Amino acid sequence: MKIGVLNSGGDCPGLNAVIHGIVGAADQLGFEVIGFRDGFEGLLPPASFTRLTPRDTIGILKLGGTILGTTNKGHFAAKVGKGSIAEVPADIVAQAKATMDQLEIGALIIVGGDGSLTTGLQLFRAGWPIIGVPKTIDNDLSATAITFGFDSAVSTVVDALDRLHTTAESHKRIMVLEVMGRHAGWIALWGGIAGGANIVLVPEMPFCFEKLVERIKQRELQGNHSTLVVVAEGAKLPAGDLVTLDANAGGEVRLGGIGDRVASTLQTLTGKETRSCTLGHLQRGGAPTALDRILGMRFGVMAVKLAAEGKFGRMVSYQSYHVDSVPIQDAVNQLRLVQPDSELVIAAKAVGICFGD
Ligand code: F6P
Repeated sequence: MKIGVLNSGGDCPGLNAVIHGIVGAADQLGFEVIGFRDGFEGLLPPASFTRLTPRDTIGILKLGGTILGTTNKGHFAAKVGKGSIAEVPADIVAQAKATMDQLEIGALIIVGGDGSLTTGLQLFRAGWPIIGVPKTIDNDLSATAITFGFDSAVSTVVDALDRLHTTAESHKRIMVLEVMGRHAGWIALWGGIAGGANIVLVPEMPFCFEKLVERIKQRELQGNHSTLVVVAEGAKLPAGDLVTLDANAGGEVRLGGIGDRVASTLQTLTGKETRSCTLGHLQRGGAPTALDRILGMRFGVMAVKLAAEGKFGRMVSYQSYHVDSVPIQDAVNQLRLVQPDSELVIAAKAVGICFGD
């Protein structure tokens, strides 16, 4: 069998580990692997692809990014804003299918997030032999307990908070760190807890400034003159507005700026010097953690197993310490969000973290 693989959507640490897993497992079964470049775009004529052998993947396990390239734009972008889904036009599907047929691809592994897997579902329903591998640093896909890349992003947040902590204490300042998390606040929550944040703001939990000020004043009375705030880019201002950088025509809105807004308001309300810092794509770049390398590799191996068994239309999934699979249709369009009454949030509150709710 010839197995095609492509990465689609934003990159994330661990993509190369998935490729490493796919190529290794395929080689053992005597399958050939064709890697398409720059996501689905690589399928369009003139097709852009490369044959991948174990020799080509030596040393990639530890590399961030993806050796195949990726895109969250282009002809196959399924998500055009929250809740709205675009079908890939029939002529584009037909052109890509011609490449699949010419190369005699017997299985196409799509490593992507909710939008890319939605495209994958459309193609599967059109008869393509699709297998999905979930990918998102936001960790917000409902049908898998965890996705690779998340742990690496959280580690970057923790490292940043450790650094901000010392300077915040020296200057008795409030420090606000804006992190990724479009619809879900997992990065902010995990990073905030592990990095010792005092305030965590997530999209799922509306906050009001009065509560934040109350917490900061309480800390002052307790002798803590610095405060660390983590805010997810998708957290909404008390009036309900998202803070955006620009509207990306035909695509998802670019989020960014909530950290600055929170910082300036807190400075005004508390009179304390406040600084903000945005981590941005530092969370997406760089080497994957050991956990993400292992998870990515296992996901790749399972994807090849599904291909070998002809289990198309399924997505690799991680549940209860076990890598398995679920139908792609059960995985897309349902986000896994932070539950305000969950044990994790209750535990965070128990150790004094304020969510502003
Ligand atoms: O979905 C993952 C994500 O990292 C979001 O948290 C963020 O809003 C978005 O991607 C950034 O995308 P881009 O790389 O296109 O700016």
